[in-house]
Amino acid sequence: GKSGYDHFMLKEIHEQPRALRQCLRGRVDEMAGTVDIEDLADLSPSGVQFVACGTSYHAALYGAQLFRDAGIPAQAFLASEYATAVPPIGEALVVGVTQSGETADTLSALRAARKRGARTMAVTNVVGSTAARECDHAFYIRAGPEIGVAATKTFSSQLTALNLLALGMTNTQEAREVITALRELPGNVQRILDESNAEEVAETYEHSDAYFFIGRGYQFPVALEGALKMKEITYKHAEGFASGELKHGPLALVTQNTPVFAVVTGDGEQARKTLGNVKEVEARDAPVVAITDGQSEVERYADHVLELPETHPRAAAVLANTHLQLVSYHVASLLGRNIDKPRNLAKSVTVE
Ligand code: M6R
Repeated sequence: GKSGYDHFMLKEIHEQPRALRQCLRGRVDEMAGTVDIEDLADLSPSGVQFVACGTSYHAALYGAQLFRDAGIPAQAFLASEYATAVPPIGEALVVGVTQSGETADTLSALRAARKRGARTMAVTNVVGSTAARECDHAFYIRAGPEIGVAATKTFSSQLTALNLLALGMTNTQEAREVITALRELPGNVQRILDESNAEEVAETYEHSDAYFFIGRGYQFPVALEGALKMKEITYKHAEGFASGELKHGPLALVTQNTPVFAVVTGDGEQARKTLGNVKEVEARDAPVVAITDGQSEVERYADHVLELPETHPRAAAVLANTHLQLVSYHVASLLGRNIDKPRNLAKSVTVE
């Protein structure tokens, strides 16, 4: 059942701290600053190609960045596009990110890769799923069953699992810092669930014409995911952009009635640039909702702030997404949508 929640989606959003603890359990040695997962260390691929759809594709974009940050060439592909022109695979590992393990597009991309002799891995939630059975390796995200059509806790668990995967297969100087941030993540998600003012933001903007989401680096997939969730359950126009792309076209869409959700963390180069993009939006009178840890000046240009604790940007992505899940949920709820079963959608898409 829904354990007292109005919807499975809300229940699953609230299950995230537990899901993340399960994902981390027994896989991290905090003292040593290492991730020890049998199997993984021997893989050491020369490259990684991710294939995935929808929310899982956003996780894949994030995953590819993790590997690139560790010096390993990595790219994320939409599974439905992968087979139309299979890229040279070489010695790369092909990783299908799929919650259900049954998504037809993802299975067929993995099969196309296997046919060319690639080693494959499924990053999935479902033990014994087709993807888990057909791939050479399976890495489980351990989120527990997800009933709502909108993926929520499984996205957070995918991001967490991909961090473990990258730490387990590569050497990165940041490992210790990332591990600490992952350890703190379940508690930090809980704090956001307890304290987020997402409902107030939803009430303010429930009647907007459209919703835009921007971020760069690890926050770019979060922007895409924020928009997908909003479309899926509210049926309103929403789009996610890389912050830097705004001025290359989408800025023409921005009006007083299109709130822009900007994820800005840290005080470095990336934050400074995204701050510049936020100023461009603010100058066009669009409402700005900053999802931020307050290290940059972005709050000065924001109409609303969804607060994040100071943490590693990789962990901040999960936390920012939690706020955005809640905003979409509350907008959908105010609009009286069928949140757990949005029109035209199925939980698992088994046709290509
Ligand atoms: O089971 P999968 O992760 O392979 O599913 C992929 C997509 O169909 C899925 O993420 C879809 O986009 C969700 N409805 C998003 O909320």
